[in-house]
Amino acid sequence: MLYNDKDSALRQRARRVIPGGMWGHMNAANLPEGYPQFFARAEGARLWDVDGNEYVDFMCSWGPVVLGHHHPEVEEAARRQEALGDCMNGPGEVLVDLAERIVDLIPHADWVQFQKNGTDATTVCVTLARAGSGRRKILVARGAYHGAAPWCTPAPAGVTAEDRAHLLHFEYNDTASLDAAAAQAGDDLAGIVVSAFKHDVGRDQEMPTHIFARRCREICDRTGAALIVDDVRAGFRLNLGGSWETVGVRPDLSAWSKSIANGRALAAVTGNDKFRDAATKIFTTGSFWCEAVPMAAAVATLDVLKRDDGPARMAKTGTMLREGLDALSRRHGVPIRQTGPVQMPLVLFEDDPENQKGKAFCSAALRAGAYFHPRHNMFLSVAHTEADIGRALEAAEAGFNAAKRLV
Ligand SMILES: Cc1ncc(COP(=O)(O)O)c(C=O)c1O
Repeated sequence: MLYNDKDSALRQRARRVIPGGMWGHMNAANLPEGYPQFFARAEGARLWDVDGNEYVDFMCSWGPVVLGHHHPEVEEAARRQEALGDCMNGPGEVLVDLAERIVDLIPHADWVQFQKNGTDATTVCVTLARAGSGRRKILVARGAYHGAAPWCTPAPAGVTAEDRAHLLHFEYNDTASLDAAAAQAGDDLAGIVVSAFKHDVGRDQEMPTHIFARRCREICDRTGAALIVDDVRAGFRLNLGGSWETVGVRPDLSAWSKSIANGRALAAVTGNDKFRDAATKIFTTGSFWCEAVPMAAAVATLDVLKRDDGPARMAKTGTMLREGLDALSRRHGVPIRQTGPVQMPLVLFEDDPENQKGKAFCSAALRAGAYFHPRHNMFLSVAHTEADIGRALEAAEAGFNAAKRLV
């Protein structure tokens, strides 16, 4: 059997019935040579493609899997709720249990509302900022990803100028550009949307500076606009109280999804009392937003993350990975840049404007059993063990050998 025989056959079938073979960020056509499109199963920190190849998984489903695939306590909680009911005429009791957990865990949160995807959550935050302030302008960092709705999708196809009429841009961590955008919004400023840290694809990651985070807060305090932290990608990996707890600045509203239910479909908006009225006024809903099984999974996920200090455990294995890759890079004489928090690593190669070295590294490491990404930040989970990191570093050795051939 060839390395990816079955995957190729499935892709061929898919191309006939799915435009482009696959949509969005999970389209493997955007990945280097050899990356599979289709997966058969996943367990802990490991992933098997449809051809039976096994990988140490450093994408964790692009973030959602924070405790590891099939975490037994989460699965048990989901099974128990499934036996009772999932999609009913209204939420289960678990809605209130989960909301209480979240309000206890997240210092800025006085209340919470649930949705399904990160885009739902960021879009609800923008609507809330406008409903609460009675104004229109929203400031967003240039190049930041906040979802796939017309107001924020990175692809212009199908988007009208009107969809974005009230957006103004600034550069992340640049207070002068933030001030300028706020001045341009004037007395029509409804909110500032800011990522937990700068995690734009293909660019070195940056944590928010204290000065920048404080300036966001000051502008919102001065004007009555909403400070919105988009914690969809980073939430529950850096700090269980919210990623901006690390810089000591609390938002008015936060958007969450991805890892909240360890891989089940759930998103949340948390807010403070300033926006409670607005949250009662806007009409926000979806046929599946009250499903009880993902909520039960979320209760278990948050309890385990808290009990086991998930962020610290991911920081430990993430540090091992970072130090191991640095050592390999020095030994092979192939310089790399590793940026962002160790729980969400990004590895870029020096002198690699077309990402050729990154792709060669990833393709070779994939063959040797580690699923890395050449341009997007990756994700550690609590399931990664020292043995998994050791295995991944062996695979990375093959990656560095391949990248070295391009130097
Ligand atoms: C920072 C951020 N915001 C929002 C979203 C949108 O989330 P979803 O894909 O669940 O709609 C994402 C998804 O990657 C994200 O990374």
